[in-house]
Amino acid sequence: MRVLTLSGFTLVALLTTACGGADKPAETPAAETPVVAAPVAPAAEAPAPAAAPATVAAAAPAPAAVTYASLTGDAAKGEKVFAQCKACHVVEAGKNRVGPSLWAVVGRTSGSIAGFNYSKANKESGVTWSEDVLFTYLEAPAKFMPGTRMAFGGLKSPQDRADVIAYLKTKA
Ligand code: HEC
Repeated sequence: MRVLTLSGFTLVALLTTACGGADKPAETPAAETPVVAAPVAPAAEAPAPAAAPATVAAAAPAPAAVTYASLTGDAAKGEKVFAQCKACHVVEAGKNRVGPSLWAVVGRTSGSIAGFNYSKANKESGVTWSEDVLFTYLEAPAKFMPGTRMAFGGLKSPQDRADVIAYLKTKA
């Protein structure tokens, strides 16, 4: 359709130029242009836009240590984390296993469960198990308290530590 119309105009323009142009008004090309109903071409299926590649968060490991204060502990998740402590601890009051009862441990003075055979390191550390101290201790117990008998590598994930502390706070 458009091509035809353009050709018509082009032809008229050429004829007009050939016959002296501006002096002679061109005949109305519209009348001569056959109106052909061009078959409507089916709209080409637009290819689905490729899914934008997921933005890869440039999550370089933070060099600065994550502070306990910057985290929010989740007690329910902490109960699952506590499964790793269960080999040696229970949270019931007065029940010691390989490790002392962790009932009301948050805020407790280290080595204070009567009748539990603590190591000298733990008993004499003078530490109070505040949330912040537990957060540091639980990352690497033997590093924080050289000589401890707690044979546990530690919880590397700061969030796991915050969660287990939130759980322990509910057991008091
Ligand atoms: C392999 C056994 C074992 C595992 C696993 C273990 N502990 Fe212990 N834990 C101990 C022992 C033994 C002690 C006593 C350490 C000492 O006397 O030196 C202890 C001591 C502690 C203390 C000090 C308590 C006090 O009265 O001074 C805390 C707090 C503690 N553990 C928390 C945890 C938590 C939380 C976990 C799990 C993330 C855990 N422990 C996993 C064996 C374990």
